[in-house]
Amino acid sequence: MTSTVLILGAAGRIGHVLAAAFAEAGWTVRAQARKDLPAALSGRGNIVPVRCDALDAPALRRAAQGADVIVHALNPVYTEWDRLALPLADAAINAARSSGALLMLPGNVYNFGRELPPVLSPDTPQRGDVPKARIRIEAEARMAAASGVDSVVIRAGDFFGGSQPGSWFDLAMTRGLGSGKFVYPGDPAIDHAWAYLPDLAQTFVRVAERRTQLRGAHRLHFAGHAVTGNAFREALEDVVRKPLRTGGMPWGFMRIVAPFVPMWREIVTMRYLWQRPHRLDDSALRQLIGSVPHTPLKQAVAQALTDIHAAPSASPSLSASARA
Ligand SMILES: NC(=O)c1ccc[n+]([C@@H]2O[C@H](COP(=O)([O-])OP(=O)(O)OC[C@H]3O[C@@H](n4cnc5c(N)ncnc54)[C@H](OP(=O)(O)O)[C@@H]3O)[C@@H](O)[C@H]2O)c1
Repeated sequence: MTSTVLILGAAGRIGHVLAAAFAEAGWTVRAQARKDLPAALSGRGNIVPVRCDALDAPALRRAAQGADVIVHALNPVYTEWDRLALPLADAAINAARSSGALLMLPGNVYNFGRELPPVLSPDTPQRGDVPKARIRIEAEARMAAASGVDSVVIRAGDFFGGSQPGSWFDLAMTRGLGSGKFVYPGDPAIDHAWAYLPDLAQTFVRVAERRTQLRGAHRLHFAGHAVTGNAFREALEDVVRKPLRTGGMPWGFMRIVAPFVPMWREIVTMRYLWQRPHRLDDSALRQLIGSVPHTPLKQAVAQALTDIHAAPSASPSLSASARA
């Protein structure tokens, strides 16, 4: 019998890639969003749009009925986490409880706080010493404590890939490619954890297919690409076939104006992630699913550029580079 997944936030960065990956694997996909789904998802018979607000509890309960898996891929805008992150997590938990579905969450590395060590394992101590770390720790704690809910967090680094803009990849790193510039937010000599979304989405499918082994609450880490900024630049240079000069972000200026620009204040608070080397240890994930989907970096970067270029909101300079 076909399995069914409800994806909350199916129009989002990971959401739309998850919807495609589950559909490709033969699942029936219920794709929740408040707006139209990205064009790439339309016309697929096994993707059923669910148009509702994720905070509309009765609508979500109806959408969850009969689902085997629910993925909580909702994400309030960065300045709204205080107000919305936990209510959205509760909405996902309640939907899972009402349906008996396995609840899956794409976790991030915020939970480890400012002093995150270079290698992050599922049992690395979590430290709520920044507001967003506290929120993520609390959201995961609620999932783990929810009675009658089986859950799994698959933690990953910064996303790249897919057609939905808004990641460091399109907002910073590849934005100046047209003029030969690679904008890197941190120390380009230290490792930073990245998750190429098509690989991560396939990993979600493989874990979901092993859901009978996932009673209770679980945490898995997805290693993705842990590379230096220099290695990322070299991969981009290979793809666009020209040398790129590395530029930084105007952190000093951003810090000065941060009190007046809420989004910049939030971004400046999380700058430490670009100053501390980190990678994720995926041994537990490999133990569960065997080999983990992994596209070589250069190929992933090339495809990510093409996919973001195909998106209607791609900037002209980005589009030119992607075409090149
Ligand atoms: N981005 C990363 O690099 C990264 C890395 C690791 C983990 N993660 C985690 O992965 C998850 C998804 O992240 P993402 O970057 O894919 O998300 P995203 O694209 O920023 O947002 C996903 C969806 O959340 C919905 N949403 C936003 N505000 C909402 C609200 N007030 N009420 C209801 N729905 C709302 C929006 O759906 P509609 O507007 O269509 O309704 C949006 O498309 C998050 O938990 C995030 O922390 C992200």
